Amino acid sequence: MKVAVIPGDGIGVDVTVEAVKVLRRAGEVFGRSIEIEMLPWNADHYLKTGITMPADGYTMLRQFDAVFIGALGDPRVPDNRHARDILLGTRFELDLYVNYRPVQLLDDRLCPLKGRKTADVNFIVFRENTEGLYVGVGGRFKAGTEDEIAVQEEINTYKGVERIIRHAFEFAHAHGRRKVCMADKSNAMAEGHALWQRVFKEVAQQHPDIQSRHVYIDALALLMVQDPSQFDVIVTNNMFGDIITDLGAALQGGLGVAPSGNLHPGRTSMFEPVHGSAPPLAGRNVANPIGAILSTALMLDYAGFEREAAAIETAVRESVATGHTTTDIGGSLGTRETGDHIAQLIVSELKHHAN
Ligand code: NAD
Ligand code: IPM
Ligand code: MN
Repeated sequence: MKVAVIPGDGIGVDVTVEAVKVLRRAGEVFGRSIEIEMLPWNADHYLKTGITMPADGYTMLRQFDAVFIGALGDPRVPDNRHARDILLGTRFELDLYVNYRPVQLLDDRLCPLKGRKTADVNFIVFRENTEGLYVGVGGRFKAGTEDEIAVQEEINTYKGVERIIRHAFEFAHAHGRRKVCMADKSNAMAEGHALWQRVFKEVAQQHPDIQSRHVYIDALALLMVQDPSQFDVIVTNNMFGDIITDLGAALQGGLGVAPSGNLHPGRTSMFEPVHGSAPPLAGRNVANPIGAILSTALMLDYAGFEREAAAIETAVRESVATGHTTTDIGGSLGTRETGDHIAQLIVSELKHHAN
């Protein structure tokens, strides 16, 4: 397996070291050859060279089986130009239309909600990942004056809406999930989200064995906190999916533990933690590497290495259960020590199976 790794900025670098450590260990333990190529694209590189990524960058990425990104974002690049090219550019250019964000509580102790257990927080968010408000269609007129006009259009296409909704239903089928909930704002955004309504009804009709339900996005935010156990699969647009997956991360113990995949079934896909570059934490050995490590498990699972993925997930659960974690989720270890601990538990798994 050939993996392109872009550590990026801030804690992206810190957590990627641990993710690669665990990935290599899983490769060794299970006798898989995992070839890793590091790509230096980040804010430093952009500030030094004026280049966010090379002209053939997306073509390069397509030569790999998978791409891993740490995080991108640096206060020295206030317009986030490099992150738009490297992160959003990869999502768009590789047409990674499925943003797969599982919201799964690893340990009862991590949930901020009273009395909630692991079984209560276990759903998947499918976020549309190639259109919506993220396409960059719009502009500013008379910028910087009191007459400034700023326009940012939301693009919803039949093709884009249909493929993410269909993916949500097909995933539900394949994984024994019985309910799909679509969230939009069709009461206020009558044009764009009428398309979501129409397509959701069409696709739901083709899946009579799956319970389909519509919830407005504001109500969804309420219900995710009041009773997350009612959700199984949620599908929504790009912007709403961004917002509710930070909320979802909070239900799991915080941004430090949430993984994600950016997928185009059958093509090179990209995996990354849900969190950003957290500049105040960068380089201090405090960032939680679990979101990044679990993203490598999603990557292996997606590539068909289910046992390797499961071994990483088991190791992460064990390190959380025994309190071998960073301080954001109540432990006292550093980023590196947490990565070491998880990597070493993957070896124990092998011994466990061998005995
Ligand atoms: P952030 O995710 O970096 O941080 C939000 C909060 O969560 C902070 O309090 C931070 O300390 C905490 N946090 C995040 N990851 C953590 C971890 N692994 N361990 C412990 N605590 C963690 O979001 P932000 O502050 O809004 O953004 C910072 C920069 O990151 C911005 O430039 C933003 O654009 C960028 N960003 C990038 C991505 C990405 O690359 N996928 C995602 C989100 C934000
Ligand atoms: C995420 C991030 C990105 C997004 C930012 C950095 C552009 O918040 O992956 O959740 O909004 O998609
Ligand atoms: Mn986000």
